[in-house]
Amino acid sequence: MYVTKRLGVIGAEIDGLDLEKNDDAMYAQIDSLLMEHQVLFFRDQDISHESHKRMATRFGVVKPHPAYQTVEDFPEITILESTAEAPSKIECWHSDMTYSKNPPLGTILRSRIIPEIGGDTMWSSMTAAYEGLSANMKQMLGNLYAVHDFTHGFKETLSTAEGRERLKEAIIDNPPVQHPVINLHPVTNKPCIYVNELFTTRILGIPKLESESILNFLFKHIQTPEYTCRFNWSSNCVVLWDNRCTQHKPINDYFPAHRKLERITVESGN
Ligand code: SIN
Repeated sequence: MYVTKRLGVIGAEIDGLDLEKNDDAMYAQIDSLLMEHQVLFFRDQDISHESHKRMATRFGVVKPHPAYQTVEDFPEITILESTAEAPSKIECWHSDMTYSKNPPLGTILRSRIIPEIGGDTMWSSMTAAYEGLSANMKQMLGNLYAVHDFTHGFKETLSTAEGRERLKEAIIDNPPVQHPVINLHPVTNKPCIYVNELFTTRILGIPKLESESILNFLFKHIQTPEYTCRFNWSSNCVVLWDNRCTQHKPINDYFPAHRKLERITVESGN
């Protein structure tokens, strides 16, 4: 196995292994590399849907997504597809599904169709972003909680009658939840910024204007280039990231080209 660190604080490309193999030692190594680099990139991995799912269950319990289409016979594999008729709606930096009480610990995204030019994804390290805050800011944020809301993240879909009908059960199943603004990573114990522009609506216990100002500052702060890395996809790439200490964002610069990825999110079994 060869590990190539991509940038200063986040991301590593892993070569010389076969993800089709169901090998305990290989997964122990992958798990430890994930804790170190937060996002891992694997190229030339033409894995089957079964292997994608099996890989996910190595890390925890597979968590279905209520809002996306899924692969036939694999309800846990979400299809993220962007075409000229239906371009990507994901524009903001986010961590996946933080609107849920038990958000995913990680995500495994696999590329199927990639535009000739563009369509990269960026990730940002929330441990590095936390470290970049002043001591006063760290102290102030340390005791605060914020609201994460499914309807905020899917407001564009919910602005149409078809979208409201399609997501009506998901709305009932996913009422707004609270998470700490600064979360301690359960494995590394490192503090991470845990609010994101897609799902976080307000910080509790402080005036609305203060909440808005602090959230807007944090949403901008996490985009600092020094905390980020960027991946240029080809087909048959697999990317594994830790949702607890990263945020990500697709770069939607390839319209009207076709882009198709398949995603599984994993939550911890506790
Ligand atoms: C996602 O937001 O989970 C998908 C990222 C991408 O499409 O690059």
